[in-house]
Amino acid sequence: MCARMLISREKGRFKEIDVVKTSLGQFQTRGEAWLTPVVLEFIRSRQPAILFDPFAGHGDLLRAARTAVGGKIKGLDIDPRTGWAHNDSLDHIPKLDDALIVTNPPYLAEHSARRKGVHANVARHYKQRRDLYQLALDRCQAACPYTVAIVPETIINSAYPKTHFTSITVLEQNPFDDTDCPVCVVCIDRQIAPPQNGPMLYVGERPILSLAALERARLCSRKDKRIIFNAQSGRIALRAVDLPGGDKPIAFMRREESDYPSEKIKISSRLITFIELQDVPDSRTDAVIANANRLLATHRKKTADLALSPFKGNTKAGKRRRRLDYRTARAILERAIDDESV
Ligand SMILES: C[S@@+](CC[C@H](N)C(=O)[O-])C[C@H]1O[C@@H](n2cnc3c(N)ncnc32)[C@H](O)[C@@H]1O
Repeated sequence: MCARMLISREKGRFKEIDVVKTSLGQFQTRGEAWLTPVVLEFIRSRQPAILFDPFAGHGDLLRAARTAVGGKIKGLDIDPRTGWAHNDSLDHIPKLDDALIVTNPPYLAEHSARRKGVHANVARHYKQRRDLYQLALDRCQAACPYTVAIVPETIINSAYPKTHFTSITVLEQNPFDDTDCPVCVVCIDRQIAPPQNGPMLYVGERPILSLAALERARLCSRKDKRIIFNAQSGRIALRAVDLPGGDKPIAFMRREESDYPSEKIKISSRLITFIELQDVPDSRTDAVIANANRLLATHRKKTADLALSPFKGNTKAGKRRRRLDYRTARAILERAIDDESV
């Protein structure tokens, strides 16, 4: 069964949506790139007798884990075509002794379910959480002391409680063939005391910083300057996303340097915008732009980009593309006007 999703109101363009695949989040994990050394060590050191996937799908993820660490496997799925025992694991996951959950649950945010025309199929799941993967993580944690799950990378900057998380590993290599949703692997242990600085964050095998250090590195706006975003006559342009080629990263520039037509700047513009700094004389514009780009580069380096949202897959060179939200952009401009460093 298909539904239609509106892609462009102006151009009247729609996309066909497979209702079952979308409602059940049926995107299968391929390969074993997600089994990084940290993830493998987490699984091995818990010595599970059973690897358990309550959202098992085609089962490739379970089989990859079994090849790496041995033991028995058990899967459940709501879709009878998968051949696993039937269970609605968003309602309840049965407890299994000596098991470790290893899974890639369905992902579907409530607003996407509405946009894709499948909300009626999943509406009952949005009582506690706004995305199916978050409810799935709640159910996994209630059923089993240990969980390893591939989930959207946006969990890092989300409010989902990470008390028992021991690590979060961003996967730059896409583990799916039919979606490029940016993902990470979370390891959760409810038996040990929560790590003092929160989970350690990795990009692939590279340790970056703790979640507590990431929170400290975030740039917060002081709202002490008159900075107007989405101002058609603004002096500064902000390209707020990394372009796919890799040679045009997020940057502040003089509006003349941007070839974007000013009439396209709307109140809702999020990818490119013009900005007016009301209290800054034009003689300082270039210095503020240079400061802002320097502050942004330092911030990106310090946090390995993890404070910025992932945006539509990777650059041609395989690096995750990022988007700078306007709150952080404002915080950067405030510091750039005051000639501060981060
Ligand atoms: C993202 S796929 C992942 C499959 C497999 N874990 C993997 O990584 O390849 C999610 C799977 O969860 C199943 N699923 C969706 N909703 C479910 C529910 N409420 N209970 C159990 N399984 C569900 C889907 O049918 C699909 O097979």
